[in-house]
Amino acid sequence: MKRVQFNHYGGAHEMYMGEYQLPQLKRDEVQVRVKAAAINPLDWKQRQGSMKLLMGSAFPKGIGSDFSGIVEAVGKDVSNIKVGDDVFGTMDVKKPGAFAEVLVTASRYVTKKPSHLSFTEAACLPIPVQTAWAAMYLKARVSDNSRILINGCTGAVGSMAVQLALAKGARVAGTCSQASMLNARLAGVDPVFNYADDEYRHSIEPFDVIFDTAGTLDVGNGLSMLKPKGVFIDINPTPKRMIRGLLSRRYKLVFATMATQHLPEIAALAAQGVLKSVIGLEAPFSDAVATITAVEKGQRVQGRVVLSL
Ligand SMILES: NC(=O)c1ccc[n+]([C@@H]2O[C@H](COP(=O)([O-])OP(=O)(O)OC[C@H]3O[C@@H](n4cnc5c(N)ncnc54)[C@H](OP(=O)(O)O)[C@@H]3O)[C@@H](O)[C@H]2O)c1
Repeated sequence: MKRVQFNHYGGAHEMYMGEYQLPQLKRDEVQVRVKAAAINPLDWKQRQGSMKLLMGSAFPKGIGSDFSGIVEAVGKDVSNIKVGDDVFGTMDVKKPGAFAEVLVTASRYVTKKPSHLSFTEAACLPIPVQTAWAAMYLKARVSDNSRILINGCTGAVGSMAVQLALAKGARVAGTCSQASMLNARLAGVDPVFNYADDEYRHSIEPFDVIFDTAGTLDVGNGLSMLKPKGVFIDINPTPKRMIRGLLSRRYKLVFATMATQHLPEIAALAAQGVLKSVIGLEAPFSDAVATITAVEKGQRVQGRVVLSL
């Protein structure tokens, strides 16, 4: 089997397309023939070593988390999925490896793909929607009374947070680059601010929720834009911010893993057309290393970059 893997934590040059042996299937695991795998910033952060305490030092390691595909085998205890199902899902953060011809992951990270969703569309859902779900529904508990600011409202996580918040009737403001402003407005964000022009902060009414997907808002500035009981939600942890998140009632860090159990509800919302991904580029799996490297180095497209097999 082929997959993108690496033998040392480090830069993009550490990745190569290599052969690997599938692990023995455990009782709660499924084996999936991958049809599409979406690229997330998590992929290169894991390879760079930012999670090496969790991931350990046994090499080679795979890379990639979000995928869709067809189930080839299931462990003895698996009841939610059967052989032949079209599925989508994600990998354990400790064991990435979705940029592969075939992968093995725990069945709790996988759900059935809605039939009218393409494999490419389904592969874009898990990490961005789980993260947005954890922020909007689990932490902020948004409702039709909520007034929200999403910093980075057209990114993978931001655009999903916009859709989840609008689905609850919330009013959503957002920031993005000049190039993304039209797309943000078309998605229902109002007002839209250019993040390059910081002045917007001084001229707006306070918010119930600020969701910083980009990790670029100063926490103090964010808190000053909130109503007294408002909450600032961050998804880009640093050691200092982790401690602040534990101590503060108004500043919270969230993680995609907080919403893993909501994957079936996410599939249902996608089936209803409530959640839609914008696909920017589909690249063949044979170009995986070059494609991941280009996205990591900042080559931008409007929408998600997906590897197809
Ligand atoms: N905690 C978790 O579990 C978790 C889960 C998922 C992601 N993350 C992290 O969250 C971040 C975003 O992930 P993503 O997948 O959404 O990435 P993405 O698709 O690349 O989106 C990034 C967004 O940030 C915007 N942006 C760039 N510079 C900005 C600035 N100075 N001010 C405001 N917005 C700015 C971009 O806008 P333009 O494109 O218009 O420039 C884009 O909308 C990454 O660092 C990722 O590692 C964490």
